[in-house]
Amino acid sequence: MSFRLQPVAPARPNRCQLFGPGSRPAIFEKMAASAADVINLDLEDSVAPSDKDSARANIIQAISDIDWGDKVLSVRINGLDTPYWYRDVVDLLEQAGDRLDQIMIPKVGCAGDLYAVDALVTSIEAAKGRSKRIDFEVIIESAAGIAHVEEIAAASPRLVAMSLGAADFAASMGMQTTGIGGTQENYYMLREGQKHWSDPWHWAQAAIVAACRTHGVLPVDGPFGDFSDDEGFRAQALRSATLGMVGKWAIHPKQIAIANEVFTPSEAAVTEAREILAAMEEAKANGEGATVYKGRLVDIASIKQAEVIVAQAELISGS
Ligand code: COA
Ligand code: MG
Repeated sequence: MSFRLQPVAPARPNRCQLFGPGSRPAIFEKMAASAADVINLDLEDSVAPSDKDSARANIIQAISDIDWGDKVLSVRINGLDTPYWYRDVVDLLEQAGDRLDQIMIPKVGCAGDLYAVDALVTSIEAAKGRSKRIDFEVIIESAAGIAHVEEIAAASPRLVAMSLGAADFAASMGMQTTGIGGTQENYYMLREGQKHWSDPWHWAQAAIVAACRTHGVLPVDGPFGDFSDDEGFRAQALRSATLGMVGKWAIHPKQIAIANEVFTPSEAAVTEAREILAAMEEAKANGEGATVYKGRLVDIASIKQAEVIVAQAELISGS
């Protein structure tokens, strides 16, 4: 291992991020009452250009008026290629109450994007005497975003989470699909006349996880558009969790329970992890660095793998 230790990502449950358009304030109370760990009020692509000003006002009011409990409260601003984003930042930072935890920056393409927003936020925080520092989260959803993913992960001490945005990512990459995440009909291997579907999001997800883990940022899987397909959502979430992501977006309330379930380590997984740790304690007491658990090798690396699962379970159960 390099002498530089891997920084730890923020210790908070981030299993599900529930989105809702800022132009639809009627659902804000329902979002607050949901079981999602993170709430993302949207000013970007779910809000029509003619509604940007009113959506901003709705969100600023709701940040103070609604009881958001212990949820992480985040607002997705517009992209830096639009005429809206600076007003989003200025109004939120000048007018929104201290309950606001995070702003989400979409379509980031380079570290400079975060630098620009950081400079503006830092200045307004100082001018207004805001005592609570606003955190950032970003969406990787372009060719430039994925090409520069590591410099983006390192770009600001405010950065706590990074999501993959499948739809814009696919468009930017020129991928031939209109699906938002999940299995893609034409992405298969052929063997003896049988199709075996592969995962076109795998590379981007793994790149995001690596960049995030290098810099102590939470890696999150973004939206799954077909909210009538529970099993498709579950399969996508299971793949993301297996790769190291800590949670997934919900774009409809019915996706929340599935995300919470998938990103909470199962009792069986936690029991097995604890048994591996116990087996390794015993091995250590016998002066051994490796031993056998259920017929397979476990060694010092297994301790770290098991600790990831136990730590995640303890974080979520609050113990
Ligand atoms: N958060 C909380 N509650 C929501 C919700 C959300 N995002 N979306 C819908 N609901 C509520 C509805 O108000 C309805 O409540 P009710 O039973 O009290 O009437 C219930 O959940 C069922 O909603 P349904 O009728 O199935 O959906 P809809 O047609 O009202 O809305 C969407 C469907 C997709 C338009 C809506 O879920 C939505 O806007 N999602 C978020 C989109 C978004 O933010 N995109 C940006 C990120 S990709
Ligand atoms: Mg997008």
